Amino acid sequence: MKKNLSILLATFVFTLTVNKSTAQYNTLWIPDTLSGTHFNLVLKDTFAQLRTGNQTITAGVNNQFWGSTLIFNQGDSVHMNVHSYLNDSTTIHWHGMHLPAVMDGGPHQVIPPGTIWQPYWKVTNNAATYWYHPHLHQMTQDQMTKGLGGFIIVRDTQEAALALPRTYGIDDIPLALTSRKYNADNSFITANTSYGDYMLTNGTPNAQVSLPKQFVRLRILNAEMERAYNLGFSDNRTFYLIATDGGLVNSPVALTRLILAVGERAEIMVDLGNDAIGSTLDLKAYNSGFALGFPGGEPNSTGQFGSLLNNTTFTVLHINIAAATANPITVIPATLASNTYWTSADATVNRTITVTQGQPGPGGLPFALDNTPFVLTYINKTIPLNNIEAWTITNNNVFGHAFHIHDVEFKLISRSTGSVANYEEGWKDVLYLPINSSATFVAKFTDYSDSIHPFMYHCHFAPHEDGGMMGQFVVKSNSTTGVNELSNTKNDYLIFPNPATNRLYINFSSTEMQAYYIKINNILGKTMYMLPRPQLQNGIDISNLSPGVYTLELTDEKTKIVSTKKFVKE
Ligand code: C2O
Ligand code: CU
Repeated sequence: MKKNLSILLATFVFTLTVNKSTAQYNTLWIPDTLSGTHFNLVLKDTFAQLRTGNQTITAGVNNQFWGSTLIFNQGDSVHMNVHSYLNDSTTIHWHGMHLPAVMDGGPHQVIPPGTIWQPYWKVTNNAATYWYHPHLHQMTQDQMTKGLGGFIIVRDTQEAALALPRTYGIDDIPLALTSRKYNADNSFITANTSYGDYMLTNGTPNAQVSLPKQFVRLRILNAEMERAYNLGFSDNRTFYLIATDGGLVNSPVALTRLILAVGERAEIMVDLGNDAIGSTLDLKAYNSGFALGFPGGEPNSTGQFGSLLNNTTFTVLHINIAAATANPITVIPATLASNTYWTSADATVNRTITVTQGQPGPGGLPFALDNTPFVLTYINKTIPLNNIEAWTITNNNVFGHAFHIHDVEFKLISRSTGSVANYEEGWKDVLYLPINSSATFVAKFTDYSDSIHPFMYHCHFAPHEDGGMMGQFVVKSNSTTGVNELSNTKNDYLIFPNPATNRLYINFSSTEMQAYYIKINNILGKTMYMLPRPQLQNGIDISNLSPGVYTLELTDEKTKIVSTKKFVKE
């Protein structure tokens, strides 16, 4: 009897193991979409069932892990209503968007818990795939690990005129690639780790998707902390790059492998038209065999720089071929765009940035840029508005990096290792910088000057960025009109809360006065609203405030003088 029981037990354990390896795929989660001109983003600490057993403590934007996909049309003014219910302060950065620095969501636009932040801007970016994510200094890895972030898809008339797959979730699939390590209780490991052990595709472990038997478009984002992906398909079929970080490429680029570093996006098209219905195909990361310096190429399977996925080939997405849709895309347009890129001849200023050691030693920082670990109050570079500049980033250090710059999309013009890869010839805002190499890009710094709020440039590896591998620049306009000419008497205004409309109206005593920033704080000094450059013609919607006394803190656009006034919400 005792013997029988142990046989029974052994059979039971065996069955569980078998089930685990056969029923291994979960349906890929496709984030919901938001579109129009007004977007509500609710940031929340929450839980998600990512593995068997306990739920994992996560954070999401309108969701449990990751966030809604925002769909913008070029030319629209988009208004964000970012409401943070997180327990910690955060920021939300619109990665790749060209917008005023005060709206950018970098480390300076801190959103305290319980606060509503309302940035807005006119979308001028090309149709492509962008994203948003937290950018709080020294907390980026922590907050991204929890799952905060989401896609932005920009559409424009040029892209809309092309016969490309664009039915979201059907033949146009967003794929955010990342991985996590877990504690025994299924909580995420965040501290002292660069790589996850388990793949998450749109937050789905072991993801599978059914795709129609035709050309499909994959919008792939490397949303990792540090790992790069050498992507390809399990049968080594050719696929076609149609867009890079900042727009369509001029013509499709045929590839069998594509390296995507952290923060980079690639839109690819892959032909499933010759696949049998019911057959399968895997999108994989062919990450084995890379030398040290490739992020995720380390041989270790444990420790700070180790992971079960390191230096291995692993599946990113399992694809099941299904029937074609009613109007399938069956060919790729030969011409996609007619970009005129900047060349070195356009640049009037050359800058260099060198990857250096941080401050070694206990508690030290691994890497820095130009021997200057990031300090929030130090402006590393001042760039005259409308400059066209060539920046050369040099990395003679011990590891590869991913260099990202805010505000602009750039053209990568040269690499010391030889020519620029064919898959990085389009507009970009992140470049992979391998060990012992340098890369040069050209960008134009148009439209938005601001002497107070800077833009960032940094390594997009979250541990490196948090460790101070970041700098900042202000874009400076030459015109100095009237900055010191205003007298204090002109710098005044009256505020009128209107209980009937739940709005607060502001009357400036001088037409020269304009709000650069308004904060509304409660009686305890807690910020309830953050309103960069608020549009005041219809007043400020204060319906979220409970009755009480509040302080309005206004920064004037020209003088940057800050003044406060009290008001009562009835
Ligand atoms: Cu994706 Cu400075 O950010
Ligand atoms: Cu780095």
